[in-house]
Amino acid sequence: MEPKIVKKGPYMMEMQPGTYHWCSCGHSAKDPFCDGAHEKLGTDMKPVEVSISYPKTVAWCGCKHSGKPPYCDGAHNKLKP
Ligand code: FES
Repeated sequence: MEPKIVKKGPYMMEMQPGTYHWCSCGHSAKDPFCDGAHEKLGTDMKPVEVSISYPKTVAWCGCKHSGKPPYCDGAHNKLKP
């Protein structure tokens, strides 16, 4: 099963320190973060846990095809329409 392309570009977000779970399946209603939707899909796709230790801007991948999840690596530019 391929992840669903939610957005062909990153979510640029100002993040505060904490632990976050990036959605890898593309079916979360709280994208870019996991809401547990993968559990109903019958997929082995799981969220990616990230710990952020200081305030910073993060480019969360919205296309779910990044080679460096959960971060945007530009892969969205190579997706077919
Ligand atoms: S949004 Fe840029 S690689 Fe996914």
